[in-house]
Amino acid sequence: MKQVPFAADRIHFGGDYNPEQWPREVWDEDMRLMRESGVSIVSLGIFGWAQVEPRPGEYDFAWVDDVMDRLAGAEVAVSLATMTASPPPWMARLHPETLPVREDGTVLHPGARQHYCPSSPVYRRYAVALVERLAERYGDHPALALWHVGNEYGCHVSLSYSYAAEEGFRAWLRERYGDLDALNDAWSTAFWSQRYGDWEEVQPPRTAPTFPNPAQQLDFRRYSSDALLACYAAEVEVLRRVTPQVPVTTNLLGVWKPVDYFRWAPQLDVVSHDSYPDPNDPETHVRVAFAYDLMRSIGDGAPWLLMEQAPSAVNWRRRNAPKRDGQMRLWSYQAIAHGADAIMYFQWRQSRGGAEKFHSAMVPHAGTDTRVHRAVRELGRELDGLAELAGTRTAADVAVMLDWSSWWALELESHPSADLLQMEAVHEHYLPLWEANVACDVVSPGGDLGRYRLVVVPNLYLLSGADAARLDRFVRDGGHVIVSFFSGIVDEADRVHLGGYPAPLCETLGISVEEHWPLDDGEEVALELGDERGTGTLWSEHVRLEGAEAVAVFGSGELAGRPAVTRHGRGRGVATYVATRPERPLMASILARACADAGVAPVHLSLPPGVEATRRRGDDGREYLFLLNHGRGTAEVALAPGADDLLGGRVDDGTLLLEERGVAIVREQGSATTAQGRPR
Ligand code: GAL
Repeated sequence: MKQVPFAADRIHFGGDYNPEQWPREVWDEDMRLMRESGVSIVSLGIFGWAQVEPRPGEYDFAWVDDVMDRLAGAEVAVSLATMTASPPPWMARLHPETLPVREDGTVLHPGARQHYCPSSPVYRRYAVALVERLAERYGDHPALALWHVGNEYGCHVSLSYSYAAEEGFRAWLRERYGDLDALNDAWSTAFWSQRYGDWEEVQPPRTAPTFPNPAQQLDFRRYSSDALLACYAAEVEVLRRVTPQVPVTTNLLGVWKPVDYFRWAPQLDVVSHDSYPDPNDPETHVRVAFAYDLMRSIGDGAPWLLMEQAPSAVNWRRRNAPKRDGQMRLWSYQAIAHGADAIMYFQWRQSRGGAEKFHSAMVPHAGTDTRVHRAVRELGRELDGLAELAGTRTAADVAVMLDWSSWWALELESHPSADLLQMEAVHEHYLPLWEANVACDVVSPGGDLGRYRLVVVPNLYLLSGADAARLDRFVRDGGHVIVSFFSGIVDEADRVHLGGYPAPLCETLGISVEEHWPLDDGEEVALELGDERGTGTLWSEHVRLEGAEAVAVFGSGELAGRPAVTRHGRGRGVATYVATRPERPLMASILARACADAGVAPVHLSLPPGVEATRRRGDDGREYLFLLNHGRGTAEVALAPGADDLLGGRVDDGTLLLEERGVAIVREQGSATTAQGRPR
């Protein structure tokens, strides 16, 4: 059999393939249709465990052999699943201790999927044994291009409070703290008589009479993300040993609270992401743009794979709208515009039975003479002609800071306000940048800040002293930061940094905060920013100037006349502080001023509303300007004369007409007309 290439020299196209749900006659048709549709890769066997190991230790790979051979014959590469995402029913019967447990003790039973406790050594032992078999059997198969480990780790079960988890948590804590004194200190157990005298007393934060210890909850979040990562790593260890030549990935959910992707990314050879924008959410394309920037950033700028998206509707929201004409194509190109080198779907053929039978597929129930299948085919054909985009990268001068520990800690209970949510905060900072076509990366507090001109820090509640010092150095060295309220409040163990909030950033920002004044639901506070007037919601606070100047003041309420936005020159840089959630136009002004001060230029200077612009660059100076019309009606975009749209759009007298949901990819030969992004 001929080796099927899975080279980085094309934009790959394909989807999840679940042939075990179909008789063999259908497989013949699948191969023909895949070829006709331009499919270059499929993810195979993700939920195949019960069919390859019908009884413990008894393996039957005949159907996988057959499908792998057929796919090789059809020149379709395979991202072969390790099949461990959902254990067969026998595991629960023989080993009920492998089942996940909720914080109140409820056991989650088999009958759906992902019914395993990530801490279970028994689950891990069976999983690793299966992976060993798969690696030995298919390592040299000509269709094998990539290993797809597990599936969407933590999608349904991310926190399990089983006895295995209790033991795993204790071992993890011993490793982190060394001795009980250190744990007692970090967890502030002098409070509420929580002091531990023996390791056996330490438990996961199970349902308790009132607020459980926040440091314990935070550590359990960390432990649980690491427990999932350990499941992944155990499989990867086998794969790297038996098939070192085959890259490994797992499909990440994007901005997914339970799993700290900054810790995962170094263990992936290529980042893969599943994206399900909601057609009923008018800002869905902005939310996914952030997720795509995150996926690119955790992979250090390398191209990533859009591993799953829906060809049209999903089945798991309350109301599942189909994608409108052109929307699937637009959103696919959006992923490419943000750095994806593969467009894949869930799934190839729409299931006949099971919980996902109303989830759209590349081959719908109604067959190939359908709107959805035609759109899939057309995109497959188009992507086949866009090989030159593969491997190109995006540069950004701005980074948005995100940290999972801080996210977890921020959303614990008993805070000044329960309304401050991390992803909403990120969205309110990212949206104006997106609207201004400013390219952004996502950076962790420990990441390389030096490559950016401006770092935006949306409500980063937890910040270690060391990371605060790095941020300060970044500013002193000429960087610009915007820090929003309730940042830098606590250390890694959720203990307040003393000395006035946010103590480790006070010198950087030239302010200190005496008291928080969160706003009530629907309450607004007036803001005066130079000549601009507007409102803030969610939060206000008593800010004291300690070197900074006030660029906006509260115009109403108890804090009227006091600073609401401040600006502080420090060293060669500038630090801006925002003490409320300004309404969008004001937030846009604050960000625009910071961008201007920092010398950050947008990707395109003047675009109609709703038109997104990004740029990808090759090492050889080739540049591609992506223009995506998410807005209403046809948009007119000014381009350099002679510009050439790879998708065949019309450019008349330097004007490109971009239809509603239209896309253009403009080839620019090293012109770098506007963006200043630093290549990475
Ligand atoms: C993903 C999952 C797939 C399928 C899909 C449906 O979360 O990985 O197996 O369930 O959702 O949207």
